[in-house]
Amino acid sequence: MEGVSKQKKIIILFYSSWGHTETLAKEILEGVNKVTGVKAELWRVPETMSDDVLAKMHIPKKTDEIPVLSYDKLDELEKADGILFGFPTRFGMMCAQMKSLVDATGGLWSKGTLAGKPAGFFFSTSTQGGGQETTAFTSLPFLAHHGMVYVPVGYTFGKELFNTDEVRGGSPWGSGSYSGADGKRMPSELELKMAKHQGEYFAKFVAKLS
Ligand SMILES: Cc1cc2nc3c(=O)[nH]c(=O)nc-3n(C[C@H](O)[C@H](O)[C@H](O)COP(=O)(O)O)c2cc1C
Repeated sequence: MEGVSKQKKIIILFYSSWGHTETLAKEILEGVNKVTGVKAELWRVPETMSDDVLAKMHIPKKTDEIPVLSYDKLDELEKADGILFGFPTRFGMMCAQMKSLVDATGGLWSKGTLAGKPAGFFFSTSTQGGGQETTAFTSLPFLAHHGMVYVPVGYTFGKELFNTDEVRGGSPWGSGSYSGADGKRMPSELELKMAKHQGEYFAKFVAKLS
């Protein structure tokens, strides 16, 4: 109906082993939901490693608080007005769990149903220089092949991106966190602030599209 705008839906789809990316995802959700007319949904990608390998890596069992976007639910992505993908770095690139989900989107690719959808990335690495930029950069072909529109955060987070007094993840490519060599460092206040900013910035972008 003319004059009545439908609520926009943003899917925040993530994988997280030890909770760093998940913490960012929840903060991004809050940022998205600040924007009138836009609602966010959190989804996990399916785990691909066996329980015994997960146990050896001290990866805790997931609760069912957040639904799993199993390979038979990919139509959820088609229904979204924008998608934010979050994943920890593996050797400077997207983790295999997210890559498996990506590789399952061939059917959507053949129908072109993700084409034109805005998308962004967020990530977690253990170290500085460990992949905060390469993880996003090496994920771009996925968006390009689907014809999705990459929405980086750029320098819209403002002066904090120029702040060199405090160690922080995140870059113009997206929000991010450092977990440290032992994985014990959870996202800092500044990293969370940038994550919330990314959610709000992305939601405003999606809201502008008709
Ligand atoms: C196999 C493997 C490879 C990894 N490669 C990198 C890497 O290249 N650079 C880095 O900084 N951290 C690397 N990490 C560390 C994770 O990216 C890091 O622990 C991340 O913060 C975990 O986030 P999560 O708790 O959301 O899963 C790697 C971890 C694993 C298990």
